[in-house]
Amino acid sequence: MLAEKIKINNGGEGSIKKLFSDNTNRFDDYSLKVGNMLFDYSKNLVTDETMGELFQLARDADVESWREKMFTGEHINITENRPALHIALRKNVDEELWVDGVNVMGQVAKELKNIERFVYLVRSGERLGYSGKKITDVVSIGIGGSNLGPEMVTEALSQHSDGNINVHYVSNVDSAEIARVLQPLNPECVLFVLSSKTFKTRETLINAKTARHWLLASSFDESAVGKHFVAVTANHDSAVDFGISKENIFNMWDWVGGRFSMWSSIGLVIALHLGFEKFLELLSGARFMDEHFRDAPLEKNMPIIQALIGVWNSTFMGAQSQAILPYNQSLHMFPSYLQQADMESNGKSVDRDGNPVPYTTGPIIWGEVGINGQHAFYQFLHQGKTVVPADFIGAINSQTTAKDHREYMMANLFAQTQALMNGIDESQVRAALKAKGVSDHEIETLVAHKIHAGNRPTNTILLDRITAFSLGSLIALYEHKIFIQGIIWRICSFDQWGVELGKEMADNILHQFDSGVDISQQDSSTMGLIRFYKERIDGAT
Ligand code: F6P
Repeated sequence: MLAEKIKINNGGEGSIKKLFSDNTNRFDDYSLKVGNMLFDYSKNLVTDETMGELFQLARDADVESWREKMFTGEHINITENRPALHIALRKNVDEELWVDGVNVMGQVAKELKNIERFVYLVRSGERLGYSGKKITDVVSIGIGGSNLGPEMVTEALSQHSDGNINVHYVSNVDSAEIARVLQPLNPECVLFVLSSKTFKTRETLINAKTARHWLLASSFDESAVGKHFVAVTANHDSAVDFGISKENIFNMWDWVGGRFSMWSSIGLVIALHLGFEKFLELLSGARFMDEHFRDAPLEKNMPIIQALIGVWNSTFMGAQSQAILPYNQSLHMFPSYLQQADMESNGKSVDRDGNPVPYTTGPIIWGEVGINGQHAFYQFLHQGKTVVPADFIGAINSQTTAKDHREYMMANLFAQTQALMNGIDESQVRAALKAKGVSDHEIETLVAHKIHAGNRPTNTILLDRITAFSLGSLIALYEHKIFIQGIIWRICSFDQWGVELGKEMADNILHQFDSGVDISQQDSSTMGLIRFYKERIDGAT
C-alpha cells in the first residue's frame, strides 16, 4: 500500500547539494535522453535507494500491466466504462488495434484522410466562402480540451506557419472575447470550427450562435452557414440540429478524452494553420514518446521516472503544488494546457473503488514563462515557506537566431535551478556583504533576509528546438506521466465528475435571473448576490 510506503528512505531529510558533492557523476546517474530530449532529475532529493523503492512502488501498483491495458484499448476509464485511447490517434495507421470488436485504426485512418482533404481544399482556395472569396481566417470555438491543446500548439509553432491561414480562438463566454476576435475579420473569408466533443457545452454553443448571427448579418443567406461552419464532435445529431451539414462534421469518439483530444479531429485547426504535414509531424513526435513509454524498462523510462519524481515530491515530501516554467516564449501556454491535462485528471480524492485516499494526490499545477516569472513569483520559490517543485523546460536552439537573447535566457534557466538547490547560507551572506564593504551594523540588519534555504527540487527538460515533432513528444511525455501517477495513486485519471456540479448549479441560477422567480430558497449569500446583480444590471428598474 502506498500509505505504508510513505516511510521509505529518510522521509525527505538531507541536502540535494550534498548529494552532488558526494557523487560527482550525479548528473549522468540521474538524467536520461530520449531522442533529442534530455530529462535531468538529479536536482531532487533522491538517492539510489529512494529510486529503487520508487520503482518497486511502481511495480507494486502494477504500472506495467496498466500501461499495456491502455495500449490495448481495455476500459481503463473505469467510471465511464471505456478505453482511453489517445495513443491510437498517433499510432501508425497501417497497424491494427482491435477494441470491442472494432479496428479503431481504420476509423482513425479515415478521419485523418478527411482532415487532409479538407485542409487541402481550404488552404488551396478550392473551398471558398459564400461570396467566392478565399478563406483567410479560421475561428476555433471550443473550451477546455477542445481549445487548450490546439491553441497551445499553434502558439508554440506559429513561426512554422506559412501565413496561408490565420487562426483565432474563442473559448470564454464573455462576449468581449468573441467581439474582439471578430471585429477585424471579414465574414466572407472566415471559417468557424466548432469544437465540442459533446456538442452540449453551453459556452461553446452560445459563442457559436453569436458567430452565426455575425455571419448572417453579412450574407443575409442561411446557405452561407454550410460554407463557413464545420464541427468537430462525437455528437453528430446536435451538430446537425445547429445547422451543420453531415459532410461538414469531423468525427471523434467517446474513447478520446477531451484533454487528450488534440491528436484527433480537434487538431483540425492545427492542420489548417500549419498544414497537414506539420500535424502529422506532431503525431509522429507523440508516437515516438509512446513507443519509448511502452517499450523501455521502468528504470530507463522517461514518463515513468518523471511520474515517480512527482509522486516522491508530493506524496512523500508533502509538496502541494508543481510549477511549470518554460524558458521559451513559444511555450507560453504550456502551463495552462497542463493545468487541465493534469488537474482535471488527478485532482481526485477517492481511489478506484471509491474509498478516500489517505495521501496527497495530484498537485496544483501553475506556471509562467521563465524570465517573466523570475520578475513576479520567483521570490516565493526561493524564500517562501512552501516548497514548490518545478519543471524547467528549455529549447537549446530558439526559433530566432538572436544569440544574445538565447544565451541570456538559457543562463537564467540553469542559474535558477542551481540557486534553488544551493541556496545561500548565513556565512556566505555575511562574507558577500563584507566583501562589498557593507558595515557590520547593516550586515546584522540584512543577513536573515538574504539567506536562501535552498534544497528546492527541480527537473530540467531540454529540447533541441521547438518543432512539431519535439512538441508532440513533450506533450506525450506529460500525458503518460499523468497517467502513471494516477495508477500509483490508485485514482481514476480519465473522468472529470468534479466539473459537473458547478455546471448544473449555473443552469439553476440562470433560471433565477428571470423576473418574478422566487429566489428565497437560495442560501442568503447567493440570494444577496442575485439581488445585487439584478438591481444593478444596466436598465434595471
Ligand atoms: O467541463 C470540462 C469539460 O468537460 C472538459 O473535460 C472538456 O475538455 C471541456 O469541458 C469541453 O467539452 P466539450 O468538448 O464536450 O465541449
